[in-house]
Amino acid sequence: MSADIHVVILAAGQGTRMKSQLPKVLHRLAGRSMIEHVLTTAATLSPRTVTVVVGHRADLLRRHLSAWPGLQFAVQEPQLGTAHALQQAEPFLKGHSGTLLLLSGDVPLLTAQTVRRLVEGHRAATASATVATAVVDRPYGYGRIVRTKGQLARIVEERDATPAERQIKEINGGIYVFDLPPLFDALRGIAAHNAQGEFYLTDLVGIYRRKRKTVETLMVDDAQEIRGINSRTELAEVSTVVRQKKNEELMAAGVTLVDPAATYIDPDVQIGPDTVIHPGVVIEGQTRIGSACEIQAHVRIVDSQIGDRVAINNFCLLVGAKVANGVVIGPFAHLRPETNLGEGAKIGNFVELKKTSLGARSKVNHLSYLGDAEIGENVNVGAGTITCNYDGQRKSRTVIEDGAFIGSDSQLIAPVRVGKGAYVGAGSSITADVPAGALGIGRGRQVNVEGWADRRKASPEKT
Ligand code: UD1
Ligand code: CA
Repeated sequence: MSADIHVVILAAGQGTRMKSQLPKVLHRLAGRSMIEHVLTTAATLSPRTVTVVVGHRADLLRRHLSAWPGLQFAVQEPQLGTAHALQQAEPFLKGHSGTLLLLSGDVPLLTAQTVRRLVEGHRAATASATVATAVVDRPYGYGRIVRTKGQLARIVEERDATPAERQIKEINGGIYVFDLPPLFDALRGIAAHNAQGEFYLTDLVGIYRRKRKTVETLMVDDAQEIRGINSRTELAEVSTVVRQKKNEELMAAGVTLVDPAATYIDPDVQIGPDTVIHPGVVIEGQTRIGSACEIQAHVRIVDSQIGDRVAINNFCLLVGAKVANGVVIGPFAHLRPETNLGEGAKIGNFVELKKTSLGARSKVNHLSYLGDAEIGENVNVGAGTITCNYDGQRKSRTVIEDGAFIGSDSQLIAPVRVGKGAYVGAGSSITADVPAGALGIGRGRQVNVEGWADRRKASPEKT
């Protein structure tokens, strides 16, 4: 987009109807806060400046957005309405001419394509202002677009509308493009003569019309895009819309969703064809899953990389894991960050891994904890094996080399190394390295007391 675009995002309101300690725009949908959805869309225009108007819990918002470079924060205190909010951005836009795109922090579904069309339409019409509108079945709560002879005359808020105006189905999306030069002077002409006693930005339309300035409207194709979120119910409804869209994309690309309505996949997730996803699965963040995988019911995967032909059985949690092709996981496995599973590895039930790499075809089938461990290929880790990686102060590493066999119920007290092809006897506490090819046993020797049971029967008081 051509230069001299400035973006202002209104985000100072509390969002009373959310009944929340958090500012409304920090509530999340599809894995991201509302305000981040809006910022992501704004960034596609490469704007010269981006100003966020904050007020209610401004500290939280600033902290939340600290990773976004170059944002300007205008503070609106107290919050006296949308026109008053925009006025707070004036000092940040002093001396700039050009075009202002005004976005609302609580309208998260707006697409890059639509804002582009808005700005281009605005410039083509050489308008002073352009308002995004949509026709909806349930206009309740939105400002209505009042037209005379087809021309936009004014915008009237729900509470101030007459019964006849409330019938109007064309609504104000709360998204506008303005020419900067006349804007801030005109805003000073807005009064708070309305049901809420607030300074309404929507009154600018009437002011511009009286001054014979051109105010255009642009009707968005998909009314869902400009849905504002004011309550938890709307948050849930809009989240469903986002999920449905993602699910449809995935199915169109060859992914089977056994029950799309019960599948929760974030927008950035990638999944290959012929992968089957069962109900209750949640896939979040920057996760990538290959093709021909099967993810059974009630699995949650966060920020993980999964190869092809991977089977994940029921009730597993994977966070920040890397899984190669042909791996089998679960049920009830917990893969924590920096877990790295080699091709054809197998993780069984009740196994927890953390910062652990497991080589190709190695198996950890039952009831184990492996942390800070480097495990080679073709290793068999018996049931109930534990790496004792933490002494209360330091974390230490366990190394198990290729082809080693760890007998069941062993503890490997780190730092420790089990050499190539070595065996650890079941029930061992291994405190020293086991050389390659050796058998390490660290347990009390068994004693059998001959005839003990018979003697006990004969004179129980003596045993
Ligand atoms: C607003 C519009 C309405 C439109 C709707 C679209 C006005 C008067 N009304 O109504 O015509 O149909 O959006 O979603 O503009 N905000 C501030 N400071 C304030 C008040 C609000 O920063 O003093 C911010 C809020 O944080 C929010 C946005 O502006 O992000 C919209 O405010 P909200 O109170 O939700 O307005 P609506 O009643 O939805
Ligand atoms: Ca709103």
